[in-house]
Amino acid sequence: MRIYLIGYMGCGKSSVAKKLAARLAYSCIDLDKFIEEQEGESISQLFEKQGEEGFRKIESVCLNTVSKLDNVVIATGGGTPCFENNIELINSTGISIYLKMNPIDLVNRLIDAKTERPLLKGKNKNELLEYITVQLEKRSIYYELAKYTMPAKGIKVDALVEIIQNKN
Ligand code: S3P
Repeated sequence: MRIYLIGYMGCGKSSVAKKLAARLAYSCIDLDKFIEEQEGESISQLFEKQGEEGFRKIESVCLNTVSKLDNVVIATGGGTPCFENNIELINSTGISIYLKMNPIDLVNRLIDAKTERPLLKGKNKNELLEYITVQLEKRSIYYELAKYTMPAKGIKVDALVEIIQNKN
């Protein structure tokens, strides 16, 4: 089985993926880290050198690669489901779970962690809130295509395990 966690930057995909993988005795893949390892460059460097368009191509190729692994929980990047035909690939190769969080909670989580995220770099709190509110609305169209949606704030891994076990 293959489980994909999707959702906006800062919603907790990576940490939830780690805990969920540990509970299921699965491997955990963080797509951003996988990309950095494959390319030998940080996400910021890739954005700088190749632009967002170049990054999205690489991201899609890497998603294709990890979509062939089994017994794995994959934390995707915040933009992953919203580009190329990634959401179709995600939904045809695994169980997708959208970790949903509102813009205010996202800002509070991202305010100290925006430097390594090229799309958020240099924005103050108000700018972040405005940017996230607009972008989240656009991206929600893709996120809502996930098989399951879970409120991300205070999420318990047990709840995810239950969803997954009931599914099979
Ligand atoms: C992005 C999210 C990031 C990373 C890149 C672009 C996005 O991943 O892929 O900075 O477009 O939302 P996280 O969601 O893990 O921060």
